[in-house]
Amino acid sequence: MNTTILDGKKLAADMRADIASQVAQLKAEHGVTPGLGVILIGVDPASTSYVTAKEKACEEAGMYSQDLRVPANTTQEEALALVQGMNADPRIHGILVQLPLPKHIDESAVINAIAPEKDVDGFTPVNVGRMMIGQTCYLPCTPHGIIQMLLKAGVQTSGKHAVVVGRSNIVGKPVAHLLMRKAEGGNATVTVCHTGTRDLAAFTREADILVVAAGRPDTVTGGMIKPGAVVIDVGVNRIPDATKKCGFRLAGDVDFESAKEVASLITPVPGGVGPMTITMLLYNTLESARRACKGDG
Ligand code: GUN
Repeated sequence: MNTTILDGKKLAADMRADIASQVAQLKAEHGVTPGLGVILIGVDPASTSYVTAKEKACEEAGMYSQDLRVPANTTQEEALALVQGMNADPRIHGILVQLPLPKHIDESAVINAIAPEKDVDGFTPVNVGRMMIGQTCYLPCTPHGIIQMLLKAGVQTSGKHAVVVGRSNIVGKPVAHLLMRKAEGGNATVTVCHTGTRDLAAFTREADILVVAAGRPDTVTGGMIKPGAVVIDVGVNRIPDATKKCGFRLAGDVDFESAKEVASLITPVPGGVGPMTITMLLYNTLESARRACKGDG
């Protein structure tokens, strides 16, 4: 199989260069610097590394970033107060509360506290609802990044069978919606599989486009893929590896070696969907700053 490995890093770098020039233009024309406020509660290593990457990308794009890293024993009231502070801060156009939160904090209460006009993750009920009925909203970053990758790779989605493995609020549910909606990069027939699905392989083998966001390595192997399918691997799993300085290697949810023998196009991990997620966060933050300039933020 002549398989294309889709380079998310390169795609993301091109989009980020374009975003950086639009940031510079907004600054020059309106004196406004798009700002992202980031709240990280606790010291989960994966969350810490995502947040660091998001902040670095923000700064590279010429945006302002405010970093609030607080201990794991932060109370729910304190967490809500951090969000409310950012809601009221005019320098901040986008707020990101890194998930998951420590168990003693009610995640939905904290998400609900984010002002919808600053919800650049697209996680608040207002944004999710707007997305579902096709109104102007911030699209969640990973699903939006996946659609952008498909579009830029020239993948035809209309009329195809897309199978999504995973039903999380962050990826599975919204990406299924975006693939289904009547829009560019959508109009597919969508099947959603999850831990209650019997005979997962029977479904994945029917997919023209297979999006795997299960959070478990080797959920999909080459034998479960239809020859010529497009495979988008959303997984980021840390596999212990004593030969690495950091003690682990990253692997997706798809067994890359066997899958690349069957798929026509596949995203690697790392360097696939991950860089696009961060890029769409910058995109949404820029858009929020633009709306604030127009007075409809
Ligand atoms: N945790 C895993 N993915 C995400 C994401 O896209 N946004 C936030 N806020 N937390 C996450």
